[in-house]
Amino acid sequence: MRADRLDAKALDIGVLDDPFTSALRGPQSRFARTVGNIVTFEPDVSVFYGHPREMTDQDYADLAQLAGIGHTASLRDRRTPLPEDLFDVVAEIDLVQYRGDAVEPVADPELVPLGVADVPEMTALIELTEPGPFLPRTIEMGVYLGYRDPDSGRLLAMAGQRLQLPGWTEISAVCTHPDARGRGLARRLVAAVAQVIVDEGNTPFLHTTADNSARRLYEKLGFTLNSEVPLEILRVTGNNR
Ligand SMILES: CC(C)(COP(=O)(O)OP(=O)(O)OC[C@H]1O[C@@H](n2cnc3c(N)ncnc32)[C@H](O)[C@@H]1OP(=O)(O)O)[C@@H](O)C(=O)NCCC(=O)NCCS
Repeated sequence: MRADRLDAKALDIGVLDDPFTSALRGPQSRFARTVGNIVTFEPDVSVFYGHPREMTDQDYADLAQLAGIGHTASLRDRRTPLPEDLFDVVAEIDLVQYRGDAVEPVADPELVPLGVADVPEMTALIELTEPGPFLPRTIEMGVYLGYRDPDSGRLLAMAGQRLQLPGWTEISAVCTHPDARGRGLARRLVAAVAQVIVDEGNTPFLHTTADNSARRLYEKLGFTLNSEVPLEILRVTGNNR
């Protein structure tokens, strides 16, 4: 079945090299805000920026304009020096990217779709477990599934779709309440979101940080490492000439 999937649709792995641009200039262009060569998501949707690897002075100025003074922006795999006095580097993250063309998707009727009304509860679980950014409109980026305690109805675990690229959909916001860990909930949720992605005709991929022990979970599910690149979080200082 996996081979069929790969044969039927020649996977374009190249779009994974610059996933933020691939999403923002492709299937998720409806969320895009653009200045020059720089593109980002509407502020309540997602934090990521698409940009050239070789940034010119104009590109840096456009990045600063798009983010705004005092706000943060990010650069993935930057290859040119930062201009002096325009940004402070506030964090540097090793971003690992996994591709899921070897993952076996599994539908799971016990998992429930989450919608806009669930966002406050989802946000509380995200704040408790810190899987990565989840903003008030992130849910518009794709399908989110959750596991609710059968007795109390409390949301105990979730996962969903974030970046949509041509042929590929990112799995994100994978988290389980500390009281419910080790019961296979994250495994079930990731496999079920993968099933939704495959049903849509796409292949799953995901990002995490190099030091996140959740990598074991993804590797056990069959995700394979595709790349490891630096992601810098910058604050626009606005001191530039
Ligand atoms: C990572 C996380 C989602 C795992 O949730 P979980 O529901 O406990 O995971 P599961 O019970 O489904 O684990 C499935 C498998 O992965 C393994 N696994 C899960 N988390 C792991 C971890 N942190 N380290 C090593 N192995 C792990 C489990 O041992 C299990 O293996 P098994 O099936 O052979 O027994 C949870 O620890 C969490 O919410 N962490 C904080 C948020 C986060 O970092 N999310 C990932 C963002 S990319």
